[in-house]
Parts: sequence; structure tokens; C-alpha cells
Amino acid sequence: MSRREALKAAVAVGGAAGLAACVDRLDDEEPVPTGDGADGHPERQYGWNDHVRTDDAGNWQLPRHQTLLYLSLPAEGPPSEADRETVRGALDALDEAYAWSHEGLLHSAAYSPAYFDRFEADLAVPDDVSLPAPTPLADYETPEFDTQDALVHLASDRPDALLAAEEALLGEADEANGVSFPSALTDALELADRRTGFFDPGMPHEKADELSGVPEPNPVPEDAPLFMGFIAGFRGNQATEDAVAIGEGPFAEGTTKSVGNWRQRLADWYGEQDRDQRVMELFSPGHAAGDLVEGVGTNLGDDSGIDRFLDSVVEDATEYGRVGHAQKAARKNRDADGNPLLLRRHFESADGDVASLHFPSLQRSIDQFETVRRSMNGVDATEATPAVRQRVNNGILEYIFLRHRGYFLVPPRSLRALPTPDGTGS
Ligand code: HEM
Repeated sequence: MSRREALKAAVAVGGAAGLAACVDRLDDEEPVPTGDGADGHPERQYGWNDHVRTDDAGNWQLPRHQTLLYLSLPAEGPPSEADRETVRGALDALDEAYAWSHEGLLHSAAYSPAYFDRFEADLAVPDDVSLPAPTPLADYETPEFDTQDALVHLASDRPDALLAAEEALLGEADEANGVSFPSALTDALELADRRTGFFDPGMPHEKADELSGVPEPNPVPEDAPLFMGFIAGFRGNQATEDAVAIGEGPFAEGTTKSVGNWRQRLADWYGEQDRDQRVMELFSPGHAAGDLVEGVGTNLGDDSGIDRFLDSVVEDATEYGRVGHAQKAARKNRDADGNPLLLRRHFESADGDVASLHFPSLQRSIDQFETVRRSMNGVDATEATPAVRQRVNNGILEYIFLRHRGYFLVPPRSLRALPTPDGTGS
């Protein structure tokens, strides 16, 4: 096992065993930088862009290791002030322990509509912000909905930091990175689910050999960050953090977060079609016809160039018998000035030895996410030609299967501990 595969495996295992395996492999590493405390870190819990690496084209590179902790209050009704203090203590300690960076730890705490339903008051967000219960966004979607109360997202290039932070949050250790934790999240909340993943070019290729349903020889390009073989998240195709920020009210500077988990059927993705067809289905037929994507797509720079192809979905369906995923989705992913609405921060996972994608997306309002996801259904393309069907030749829909979906509000940092719906804090 390569060093980085071993570290990835350690994060997937978690707990004391995972941490020990990590520390063994990392004994030559620099100490993990400590933090400036909650007041010294950005009010936007999703304020990550200025604190991560960028590639040569300036595209943001998410931290290599990521963990999603889904947590719920054990009893009915709203949390107590003591619960709130407990959660605040644990999260504030995290900001003391770790620098706000990919070399330290980036994190956020978010809350579901089911959590806010515990209170009588309505959620105090402006009219342009919605936070509904999660719902299917196509006839064939049959996910398990994530209605746990809270989602804590941890991300770092340092797996030892990620695991030690998790141990302290879950009450398995009383300190992390030299900072003692006055409380653990699990003193107030129960851990309902734990999911892990990675954002690391090359790792999908390395992992693919161990996963079920990956054909031989391993078809995942060695430098791809995605199992499906390309790069994603070009800077020009992402909303800015400003664009996704809630504008006013107590939750100003917060945002909404949709998190899906998608199983990928790689045997068919690689087995049923050639590279040109994969480019057509992931980007657009125009990308294939114009030979715009070299290798995994690094040559595209900081923009996928999809904007040229937004109006030709129906035309492409009839001409090529295929339409592109990015092309369909991007149609509804623009504000009046043509700027993207969604900040997609997806990363891959091999949890349970299945290739899947965790798809967190930040946007000012959940209805924006829903509109973009529905636009991926490409109904107009299916109506234009029998060659494009609900899930066939229709972007990547034939190859991805939604297993989980949850919606959350990411409050500003100052309200991140079990907030009340009116943001008064008690
Ligand atoms: C396994 C699942 C998925 C994979 C492998 C994938 C991959 C990609 C790739 C390679 C691109 C083109 C490059 C880029 O702009 O980032 C793209 C674009 C896009 N994807 Fe996905 N994606 C997946 C699922 C989803 C889902 C579930 C949504 C839900 C809304 C989505 C929304 C978008 C949007 C909106 C764009 C276009 C960005 C723009 O506006 O220009 N993707 N995706």
C-alpha cells in the first residue's frame, strides 16, 4: 500500500486505530499549526477559498481528507442552554487547536430543517432563502433522506489532524493538538453516521483496483481527481463565497448546504463508451467535437468553457444523440449577470468499498440547488429525440445513483452552536 493510500485508509477507519496508523506513517511531518480561536477565524464557516491550495490555473483545491459527521439530539424538543454550551465549547476548542487552513483544519457545523422543526418559531431568513425538507428531484431518485439534526464537516490535508479533531469531538480524547476540550459534541449529541472521502488527484486510480465493479485494466486516469476521469470545479464555473452568503438577518454570512451521496457505476461508464462519448456526456458534445478536453481537462485552465454550449442542448441531442451533464446543469446555474449560483465542493469516497461521490453544494438558497439539479434531468432533450432517454445518453445520469440527500443551514460562526431559529441564541 502506498503511503497516501495508507493515510486514506486510516481516515476511513477512524478512531484510535486510524489515528495510530496515521501517526506511524507521518512521524517525519511538521507539527500541525494551531489556530487563532473562534474570534480569529472567518465568520463564514465556509470561508475556505482563501485558505486552501490552488492549482496552476488558480482553481481551488479542496483539502485532501474529509469527514462528514451526522449527529442528532437524543431527545425530542429543542436543545437546552446546557447542550448549546457543550457544543460551543467543543467547536471553540477546535478553533484554538487548529489553524484555519488546509494544513490545519477547515470545518463547519450545519443544521437541518428537522432540527429547526424542534422549535416553534420560524427560521429567520430573508425571503430569498429557502430551507425545505429534502425531496427527490427526479422520478427515479430513491435516496435515504438525511434528517439528522446536525452535520459537522471536517477537512484537512493532514489526516492526523482530521482524526485527532474527530476523536476530541466524539469524546474519545480530551485534547487535540495540545488544546484541551472542555466538552465533546457527543456530550449533547449522538453520532448517527460517519462518512469519509478524499480530494486527491491520482487517488481515484489507486483506490479503483480495490473497489467492486471497476473493470480491468484499471481505466481511471492516473492523474484524475474524479473516478469518472476528469477534473471539476473550475474557478470560473463556481459561485464565489460572496454569492452564496445569506444577505441579512441573524443568519447573514451563513449559507445553505445540500449534501448528496452518489454511487458511481464505473464499469459501465468506462465499458460502454469511448473517451469522446465520455467527454460529450460529462461536458458537452461541443467539447468532444471541438477536441477541447485534453487528458483529464487541465488544459481548460480556470473555466470549462461550457457557456458557449448552454443554448444548444436540444440541438445537440438531435445531432449527436447525447447531451452533456455540465451543459444541462449550467443552464440554470447562472444569475442575471451570468455568474454561477452554486459553489460545488464535491469529493470522492471509497466507503464500504464502493466508488461514490459526496456532493456538498453551497448556495444562498436550497431552491437554487433544486432548480439546477432538475435542469440536469434534460427533459427537453428527451422530448427532442428518442436517442436521449430519461437516463440514457442524458449526461451522466445512467452512471450515478443517489443514495443520500440532506439539506442544511450553515450559520455564521458566532451562531454555529445549536442555534435557535430566530438567532437569539437561547
Ligand atoms: C458523480 C457525480 C458527478 C460528477 C462526476 C460530476 C462532474 C462534473 C464535471 C466534470 C463538470 C464539468 C466541470 C465543472 O464545471 O466542474 C460538472 C459540472 C457541473 N455539475 Fe457535476 N458532477 C456530478 C454530479 C453533479 C450533481 C449531483 C449536480 C447537482 C446539481 C452537479 C452540478 C453541476 C453543475 C451545475 C455543473 C456546471 C457548472 C457550471 O455552471 O458551469 N453535478 N460536473
